[in-house]
Amino acid sequence: MPQFRTLRGMRDFLPKDAKKMRYVEVVARDLARLYGYGEIITPVVEHYDILAAKSGEEIRERMYAFTDMGGRRVALRPEFTASIARLVATKMRHEPKPMKLFCAGSLYRYDEPQHGRFREFWQANYELIGSSKPEADAEILTLTYDLIERLGFRNYWVKIGHVGILRGILAQEGIAEEQQNTIMQLLDKKRLDEALTVTRESGASQSCVATLKKLLETRGKDVFQVLKETKRVVEDYESAVAAVENLREILELTRESGVKFETLIEAGFARGLEYYTGMIFESCVPEFEIALAGGGRYDKLIELFGGEPTPALGVAQGIDRLVLAMKKQKVSPKVPEENKVMIIPVGEELKTKAFELSLKLRNTKIPAEVEMMGRTVSKALSDADRRRVTHAVIVGPEELREERVVLRDMKKRKQRVVEIQNLSKEILRGPN
Ligand code: HAM
Repeated sequence: MPQFRTLRGMRDFLPKDAKKMRYVEVVARDLARLYGYGEIITPVVEHYDILAAKSGEEIRERMYAFTDMGGRRVALRPEFTASIARLVATKMRHEPKPMKLFCAGSLYRYDEPQHGRFREFWQANYELIGSSKPEADAEILTLTYDLIERLGFRNYWVKIGHVGILRGILAQEGIAEEQQNTIMQLLDKKRLDEALTVTRESGASQSCVATLKKLLETRGKDVFQVLKETKRVVEDYESAVAAVENLREILELTRESGVKFETLIEAGFARGLEYYTGMIFESCVPEFEIALAGGGRYDKLIELFGGEPTPALGVAQGIDRLVLAMKKQKVSPKVPEENKVMIIPVGEELKTKAFELSLKLRNTKIPAEVEMMGRTVSKALSDADRRRVTHAVIVGPEELREERVVLRDMKKRKQRVVEIQNLSKEILRGPN
């Protein structure tokens, strides 16, 4: 017996909801244009190994993975970054740097569905490839801020950390990368005690564990004060100190260029993905415990796919969560009211004329539909009201004889007879 509903975690978007998703996507795409990011389109299905490499245990375990009819191990993409790293390592390897790439589309993770967490979701993703400079990190942070501002959010903050702080400490203690990954995953899930136990069991010194404990408490919104404190906590670990310095430089640059978002620095912040090597961040709103966007620097991923060693970083904005958060913060899309015209022929023989007029209106960029349910004029007008049509054009035999039609403003409930040749102009002009 078939079940006539969507699979768990999958959704249909009806026109009202689809419009909101597309609105965010359009704003995100416009931002890409303004920052010089060229759009690319990559396949939804890729080799499992490409998507799994360095994605981290959590994502790996939740991939929609299967064997295709050709016997290949494949998966639905759980994110864009791996596909982009593949492209940069292969077809785009000779492109001049920096390379700026944008993509938007659907992604798949077998996550436990809950508010803001779906099995099919959408991201607007930006990757900046080829620069190891703090300018690149500052641009990605600026872009993240810019999108949230353009969408009209009033209350949000960006949580920032640096993978180099924790990894610097663990590496200096001689902890292997695999164990480092386990520790980072536990920290990402906020299982702090377990993370400290694994660190201890991996052979870290007493003072290392004490440093980590202190680090996990080092957080706050007074950015430069927190960074100073962090530097003091990690002073015995050279590359961790360098990571703090790198973060300071990035944030100075971002601040000085006029980007003013509330920043929460978390020295012990970790993200689920394994490929990060530098600054990492997430944007948050008080209405959600989960992030709206996430990103960071991944300087080793492209060489893993056989490319030249290439520094890179990026951010993915979760379109679904942005739409949900806009609703919670009562932020409405900034789209100008558009005219919407319904052409109503009075009688069968005027259908052709109605179609002809609709084509003419659309050619002048005015959205126009023709009544096609065979309704009487009064029924057609009440249907037009229900559909929030702004203007009705009534095509009647008498007016038509003089090349005229009746134009009705649906909101003001006023109508007048206008020359067909002036119809578009009259619609754009509004009522008398
Ligand atoms: P991510 O943190 O896994 O990072 O995902 C980024 C955003 O995608 C999240 O902040 C969230 O808005 C959205 N998202 C993730 N999973 C779900 C879900 N199950 N349901 C709804 N929305 C979800 C990445 O994907 C990295 N590729 C980001 C990146 C780009 N790093 C460097 N470049």
